[in-house]
Amino acid sequence: HSAWPGLIEAYRDRLPVEPDWKVITLLEGGTPLIAARHLSELTGCEVYLKVEGLNPTGSFKDRGMTMAVSNAVNQGKTAVLCASTGNTSASAAAYAARAGITCAVLIPEGKIALGKLAQAVMHGAKIIQVQGNFDDCLELARKATAEFSEIELVNSVNPARIEGQKTAAFEIVDVLGRAPDVHALPVGNAGNITAYWKGYDEYHSDGITDSRPRMLGVQAAGAAPLVTGQPIKNPETIATAIRIGSPASWDQAQAAKDSSGGQFRAATDEKLLEAYRLIAQREGVFVEPASAASVAGLLAARADGWISAGETVVCTVTGNGLKDPDTALAGMPTVQAIEVDPSAVARALDLG
Ligand code: F0G
Repeated sequence: HSAWPGLIEAYRDRLPVEPDWKVITLLEGGTPLIAARHLSELTGCEVYLKVEGLNPTGSFKDRGMTMAVSNAVNQGKTAVLCASTGNTSASAAAYAARAGITCAVLIPEGKIALGKLAQAVMHGAKIIQVQGNFDDCLELARKATAEFSEIELVNSVNPARIEGQKTAAFEIVDVLGRAPDVHALPVGNAGNITAYWKGYDEYHSDGITDSRPRMLGVQAAGAAPLVTGQPIKNPETIATAIRIGSPASWDQAQAAKDSSGGQFRAATDEKLLEAYRLIAQREGVFVEPASAASVAGLLAARADGWISAGETVVCTVTGNGLKDPDTALAGMPTVQAIEVDPSAVARALDLG
């Protein structure tokens, strides 16, 4: 039994990696696929959570970033740049630190979760706030990197990102021994749904699986361009990670949905927060609000019969709940301190 070597080593034969590459890794990937007992009971399905918040920087972005930053370094790039709602910037900052190159991040003003900002700061990224939303930041990042060839753009429009992220689908199949019937995940810029579908599709083409899942892409209702069919100018949602109005991988996401017999759906902030609490309180897994979209989508799709009882469903929960303490604590009553006295503990527990 040997230790997990990181996803590039684990899936080297399925990734566009040169033998002489210096690999930049934090041993990302190899995340748990946890059986979700409460959700399974609730839905009559066999439900699993792919817990991506257990990656080194707390989100699935690390899968893409080990590939993108390794690729950048081996091409002789000296800096990486990204637009981000927070997780991409945290991940890019960490991998750039490890590689010893510069990282700059463009973030939408006032709209990223506290933990993610702390990560980018600690890893020494150059943080640039933009008076605009994520879509504005990405447009800026594309223009800036087009002009300076020494800077690599590490958003999911970078093909290396998708290659790294497709390994999550491999891991799921490797554990289950087959493809699930449905794969549910949150969709923002639409890189991850593109990556999962690529992974499932490659295993299927190579005869490792005899089926592929229906892809269920879930967006926040205030930021659901793939559901409404057109870009949204001013996306709004409490799930800041997926507050995106013009997904870069629109066509690929559409293709994943269409070729898999899948579906896009929208979940209101209220439903997202309900699922967010349910995952924490009934499954013991603390995820960030955007991540709960996969579970909100499962519950809604089961309720209207798009998912049937008995089906196997994997929900990717994309980011760690610790990244966004503000949302977790919002509306919590302040906890009063008690005297250092056992009877005060008893009173606090309503035991007399
Ligand atoms: N979940 C979380 C926690 C995310 O951070 C993101 C995207 C998504 C889901 C959606 O994935 O964009 O591939 O469809 N976050 C990006 C960022 C935009 O900048 O961190 P997607």
